[in-house]
Amino acid sequence: MVLLDNINLKTFNTFGIQANAKGIIPIYNEINVFEVLAAQIRPLRILGGGSNILLTGDVNAYILKNEIKGIEIIDEDENQVLVQVGAGEKWHQFVLWALSQNLAGVENLSLIPGSVGAAPMQNIGAYGVEQESVFHCLKAIHLESGVRKVFFKDECKFGYRDSIFKTLVKDQYFITHVVYILKKKNYTVRTDYGAINDILAVKGITSPTIHQVSDAIIEIRKSKLPNPVEIGNAGSFFKNPVVPVEKFGTLLDKYKYIPSYPVSETEVKIPAGWLIEKAGFKGLKRNNIGVHHLQALVLVNYGDGNGKEIHQLAMEICQTVQNNFDIIIEPEVNIW
Ligand code: EPU
Repeated sequence: MVLLDNINLKTFNTFGIQANAKGIIPIYNEINVFEVLAAQIRPLRILGGGSNILLTGDVNAYILKNEIKGIEIIDEDENQVLVQVGAGEKWHQFVLWALSQNLAGVENLSLIPGSVGAAPMQNIGAYGVEQESVFHCLKAIHLESGVRKVFFKDECKFGYRDSIFKTLVKDQYFITHVVYILKKKNYTVRTDYGAINDILAVKGITSPTIHQVSDAIIEIRKSKLPNPVEIGNAGSFFKNPVVPVEKFGTLLDKYKYIPSYPVSETEVKIPAGWLIEKAGFKGLKRNNIGVHHLQALVLVNYGDGNGKEIHQLAMEICQTVQNNFDIIIEPEVNIW
């Protein structure tokens, strides 16, 4: 086990915020977790790719940095495979691997930053697909007792950017592996969301392969989401709020072109990015932080920005959206 003392976390979070932790311990395998538990190192916090956190101050804990790698087919039949992925693998590396093997299911989730272990926690989603649609189970270690546990899909209580790992058992388990079901054949590609079909049409593609869908999504994401390597950010900072259809009706009377996605017969999801833009925050720059000029859902650190300042701006945005639209929006990003 390696313990690096008193570490600056700037390079461990995609927002690029400076903050110190008591220490950081890279975890390469299950044995490393048991070593940490045996050495009674406490308190502990778990970090994956650091692409969905906002650090608002120093972290008074030792950080377990998930570095468990490996992608392995553990079972298959003529239609599908079960793939076990180390939770420390980069999500997009896993997508690229699936594409290289001609396995379908994760192509719409191309280019999402972060680690495989964080994917079920957040139930990541994009372009009409959520990770739960390919999830089979995950393997984890309980940090109090050291007991190994397998969580199957039903137990994970997946919701929109939500799971049991963000609620009931938050910070209690270290996820070591995630097992996904990918299709060899008999699948349909999803191109109905957003601009995917438009991009394919421009290219004259009528029955796209998973590779072409992935390429189109990468093009869309690159065109409107800032690359964290260039500008610090954590993707969508807020969740899109779900409102009753009656409430949506009153907004529609006032804003004829308000975008929306149906959720059920009684509820509608409204893009927080649209609400934030209408509230006047899009492109705002304040000292070294701000709201991205192409996508108002993304808060940015232009360099040396401070996490507390970003948090304050986020709270101001929530308050203004509530005052203007009577809708509550909340962060999707984990605030540390
Ligand atoms: N919109 C605006 N102004 C903005 C941003 C968006 O008017 O500044 C409008 C767009 O014109 C569009 C609608 O809002 O009509 C939706 O925008 P977009 O398709 O960009 O998607 P989103 O709702 O902003 C969600 C996810 C993204 C995911 C995309 C595509 C959440 C919180 N965000 O964004 O996920 O990539 O859909 O599926 O659900 C992430 O979670 O980090 C993330 C980037």
